[in-house]
Amino acid sequence: MSAHDIARARQILASAKRVTALTGAGVSAESGIPTFRDAQTGLWAQFDPMRLASPEGFRADPTLVWRWYAARRARVRAVEPNPAHRALAAAAPRFEQFTLITQNVDGLHARAGSRDAIELHGNILRTKCFDECGVVFESPEELPAGEPPRCPRCRAYLRPDVVWFGEMLDPAVLDRAERASAAADAMLVVGTSGLVYPAAGLPLAARRNGVPVLIVNPDESELDPIAEVCIRARAGEALPRLFAAD
Ligand code: OAD
Repeated sequence: MSAHDIARARQILASAKRVTALTGAGVSAESGIPTFRDAQTGLWAQFDPMRLASPEGFRADPTLVWRWYAARRARVRAVEPNPAHRALAAAAPRFEQFTLITQNVDGLHARAGSRDAIELHGNILRTKCFDECGVVFESPEELPAGEPPRCPRCRAYLRPDVVWFGEMLDPAVLDRAERASAAADAMLVVGTSGLVYPAAGLPLAARRNGVPVLIVNPDESELDPIAEVCIRARAGEALPRLFAAD
């Protein structure tokens, strides 16, 4: 992580009134949550996430998919937000407008104190009716028994309230994210490979609107070519320095 890059990024943030941040799995890596492009570890190594995280995969084996998500939920609840999540939460009040958009479903931004994060891909701790009859459970504690449980209203299976492969994002959620990205004075992109759309399209739209894009990622990403500054560092190291008081 070069001091020059940090200084340049801090300068851009210092003059920004409206900041939008887009985070990906990399922001939770230092909390111990594997990223998508890391090999699936342990018990689930033999399964393909593309198959499990899909309506077809759920229909084919609801119990397997339910158990996979239950294991991921347990892992998420066993870890803590890391300095990157906390730096983003602490920085928000310093700006006229700070919008946090995340691709992550782990809820760690909220646990770090970020309010009103835009969860593009949903939240693994929330559960909904597979047939979308309107039943939603905000926390796993409320869930009826069963693997998966049945919807109390229509008796369809319940499923995690996350966006699966092949599913559309909630248009209202995406619209809010698009508006925040276009209206920003600076856009911070942390811990994403930039491979998955429409999320990866948000920084591109910002750049087209002349918004400087700042990337924090220890590795190269698809979005690097549009970045004003690429900070080659882990989020937990870089973000506290990026937002440190003068
Ligand atoms: P990926 O696993 O594709 O990318 C994670 C990025 O984080 C990579 O570019 C890593 O280099 C970077 N990274 C790793 N450790 C880091 C650290 N300590 N600090 C900062 N960056 C780090 O995850 P996403 O880009 O988030 O979609 O994947 C996007 C979407 O693909 C996910 O939301 C999911 C998946 O399909 C859905 O669930 C719909």
